[in-house]
Amino acid sequence: MNKPLMTLSILSLLAFSGHSQAAECSIDLGSNDAMQYDKKEITLSKQCAEFTINLKHTGKMAANVMGHNVVISKTADLNAVANDGMAAGEAAGYVKAKDERVIAHSKMIGGGESTSVSFKTEGLAKDGDYSFFCTFPGHFAIMQGKLVITD
Ligand code: CO
Repeated sequence: MNKPLMTLSILSLLAFSGHSQAAECSIDLGSNDAMQYDKKEITLSKQCAEFTINLKHTGKMAANVMGHNVVISKTADLNAVANDGMAAGEAAGYVKAKDERVIAHSKMIGGGESTSVSFKTEGLAKDGDYSFFCTFPGHFAIMQGKLVITD
């Protein structure tokens, strides 16, 4: 195969795989100085082997004042994970080390910053009750939403 033709084949292959992917395997999640996410629900398809949440802090306040992260656990574990995270402190990013209830978590960011967290969907149950939330002290009461798992 000559070079231009090979390049063309690769390009069309890439285009095809882009189209054949039915599920959206990443989502942008905004957050702000008013202690809010811009979504109350995130839907995740198990067709995605891995799912990525891109967290953006559109505010101006620093991470030690208005820090935001995104942590995922079963909804039943939300309060305990958030409380243990608060106890773990700022240096730990307000997430308890090796917390097995934590399915995934991002780092803590401040205004103008972005971060991403990716996780495998294999262990998540369809119709399971999962939540995403911020573990900065006092934030989870407002900064939380449902993570809905579909096929
Ligand atoms: Co927060």
